[in-house]
Amino acid sequence: MKFFIDTADVAEIREAQSFGLLDGVTTNPSLIARTGRKFRDVIEEICEIVDGPISAEAVSLDFEGMRKEAKELAAIHENIVVKLPLTLDGLKTVRWCSDNGIATNVTLCFSPLQALMAAKAGADYISPFVGRLDDVGHDGMELISQIIEIYGNYNFDTEVLVASIRSPTHVLEAARMGADVCTIPFNVIQKLVHHPLTDQGIEKFLEDWKKVPH
Ligand code: G3P
Repeated sequence: MKFFIDTADVAEIREAQSFGLLDGVTTNPSLIARTGRKFRDVIEEICEIVDGPISAEAVSLDFEGMRKEAKELAAIHENIVVKLPLTLDGLKTVRWCSDNGIATNVTLCFSPLQALMAAKAGADYISPFVGRLDDVGHDGMELISQIIEIYGNYNFDTEVLVASIRSPTHVLEAARMGADVCTIPFNVIQKLVHHPLTDQGIEKFLEDWKKVPH
């Protein structure tokens, strides 16, 4: 399973990159806004740090606007994946991008049928938002399971990119289900490696090591 980081904070991206486990980056308008920086500056810097798919989101709502943005975003760097919303105009843009060699990530997916539509349009990635579904009393990971089942039935190439991850449990369930990618906030990446028994074990080993004559 690929690990993407879900942030536009370049300090976090640099640190996660130093762990040697990072396969890509996803951003969205809210994450970019949090940086207080210009969109293009942030995206260009991220492309210099990570050599993998970098999702940058279009903000137009109509086909012509999204198509124009997709061309501009794709021209920034060969690793750019254009993030488009799960609307009819968004899907129309996905088809155009697919026909014109531009990679896409279809975002704001909340149902298996939306995911089916995105795959049929030729999306490279589908981003189901599991945390936001959990937030409203639905089971976000059940959506992942349904999408994997449907994509498997028809051998779609679209990669299932689990988004809106809130905890290590989401990552664990995604891995057990065989999701292609998890895009994970920095604080959750840090939590993945921690276990109190590891910390206690290290402490005990170092304590005992002091008793070893050398
Ligand atoms: O980047 C898309 C998604 O991961 C957003 O997550 O936490 O805003 O629901 P969140």
